Amino acid sequence: MSANFNQEEFNRLIKTRRSVFPAQYSGEQVAPQIIEQMLENANWAPTHGLTEPWRFVVFSGAGIQKLADFQAQVYQQTTPAEKFEETKYEKLRNNPRRASHIIAIVMKRQESGKIPEVEEIEAVACAVQNMYLTATVYGVGAYWTSGGITYRPEAKDFLGLGEADKLLGFFYVGQIAKPSPQGNRKPIAEKVTWVLE
Ligand SMILES: Cc1cc2nc3c(=O)[nH]c(=O)nc-3n(C[C@H](O)[C@H](O)[C@H](O)COP(=O)(O)O)c2cc1C
Repeated sequence: MSANFNQEEFNRLIKTRRSVFPAQYSGEQVAPQIIEQMLENANWAPTHGLTEPWRFVVFSGAGIQKLADFQAQVYQQTTPAEKFEETKYEKLRNNPRRASHIIAIVMKRQESGKIPEVEEIEAVACAVQNMYLTATVYGVGAYWTSGGITYRPEAKDFLGLGEADKLLGFFYVGQIAKPSPQGNRKPIAEKVTWVLE
């Protein structure tokens, strides 16, 4: 089938997508239309049984400080004094401020539980890749982090999650001041087995 897409451009897009971390952001705002497009594209990820399990909570402006304060507070309240690191606490409180938007990545568990949970998580990961690629096309920095409150029970109330829902991390978005270096992967041939007869 002939495709109406520029295949070379597409392959280049996949390969040039890079994680861009908060220290590389300029601090400027990303246009809301770009964030909307990221979310729209996320919505077209593959999904077994059309459950569309991806949910997003978008933090911006004062919302970012709310998230930052909460994750720092959870760290402080749940870390024994002898293990508490002031630098980690400050990073949790200050790092988010460098982002323009922070998108909490949530898997909403299907009520019936018919589709295996791992497939629902996989569908959400596909949605995140769509956001990553959208960021690349628009020249905006982004990265997926599973830090902060990602695996903390305190996140459930904070984000209004159901008991069986899962927070998979946060997608940071910011204007790029310092681009990431070229990516690096070992050859695909090392990871593929062909069965031909
Ligand atoms: C599920 C997931 C969780 C991640 N969590 C973190 C994280 O907590 N901290 C971090 O620095 N990078 C995190 N990353 C981003 C990786 O560091 C990044 O993808 C990797 O370095 C490869 O770089 P690239 O994305 O530019 O190809 C995560 C990526 C994925 C897929």
